[in-house]
Amino acid sequence: MTDTKPIAGQTEARFTDIPSVRDALQSVDYLADEGIAGIVYLADRLGKPVLIEGPAGTGKTELAKSVARMTGARLIRLQCYEGLDESKALYEWNYKKQLLRIQAHRVVESEADGAAAAGDGATWQGIEEDIFSDDFLLTRPLLEAIRATDPVVLLIDEVDRVEVETEALLLELLSEYQVSIPELGTVVANQIPLVFLTSNNTRELSEALKRRCLYLHLDYPDLEREKQIVLTRIPDIGDHLADQIVRIVRSLRALELKKHPSVSETLDWARTLVLLGIENIGAEEATSTLHILLKYQSDITKAAKELSVAPNH
Ligand SMILES: Nc1ncnc2c1ncn2[C@@H]1O[C@H](COP(=O)(O)OP(=O)(O)OP(=O)(O)O)[C@@H](O)[C@H]1O
Ligand SMILES: [Mg+2]
Repeated sequence: MTDTKPIAGQTEARFTDIPSVRDALQSVDYLADEGIAGIVYLADRLGKPVLIEGPAGTGKTELAKSVARMTGARLIRLQCYEGLDESKALYEWNYKKQLLRIQAHRVVESEADGAAAAGDGATWQGIEEDIFSDDFLLTRPLLEAIRATDPVVLLIDEVDRVEVETEALLLELLSEYQVSIPELGTVVANQIPLVFLTSNNTRELSEALKRRCLYLHLDYPDLEREKQIVLTRIPDIGDHLADQIVRIVRSLRALELKKHPSVSETLDWARTLVLLGIENIGAEEATSTLHILLKYQSDITKAAKELSVAPNH
């Protein structure tokens, strides 16, 4: 059968306080503010999953990865997409192996020349029990996280892409840290894993799902934190250039654009400028590299106009 042991109480707290979470995140190059560090701390203490929402490229996925890195835990990732179902998220039976097992039984049976009762020593009921046991189970990320005995961080990425019915799959897991497999019984987690769900808000998530999670809205960082992110992630960059970059990006985010530049685009732009040996960004340097920051021609045109009238950031 399967491991249906109860959770051995609340797993020992991983962090002592909020500043230590922030420091630990910084040690793996993730710059968190008080709000982010606070939610991670609470998620650990309360044993609750965190639902992270916010625009693209603001560090949602990276936060879960960084928490795994800083705690030395294994990251188990479920990448969500339209059409994701139980067999890819939770588990499925290994039909081919099951079939082979049944065929093997039949062969032995017929070789026994009609002595069906003897067969390979197994009754049909025995075969059925056998093929619905652990050996025939293909474990997918959610079940893998529940059954893990080593420390894990479970990342359920871009959960807004799955259908509402699939979302329901997550409810038992996220509130009880267990899953029910009809043929096997209930599998209860050995430990409470840290769980992060991310969403780009392409659709409203169910109330039931939200209720089970702590909520974190990740927006663009403020000027100082974005500068620190640039300085941390691009070691070769000078302070002056980093400062200019984040100010220009911020001014572009204030424009009405189809798609605002995200933190990852800020970093791409910074890398590009360093590579080109640019130490000071004038209107010309900015406009000739805008395509790194912006991905729509209409946005590039609008931004170029803005930068040419306000070149000194
Ligand atoms: N607080 C931060 N500290 C350090 N790096 C960060 C931070 N926020 C974002 N980044 C950088 O931005 C990149 C993009 O972040 P990430 O992929 O996590 O965005 P996302 O919010 O998951 O975007 P999407 O919604 O498109 O999946 C990361 O690889 C990382 O380099
Ligand atoms: Mg992401």
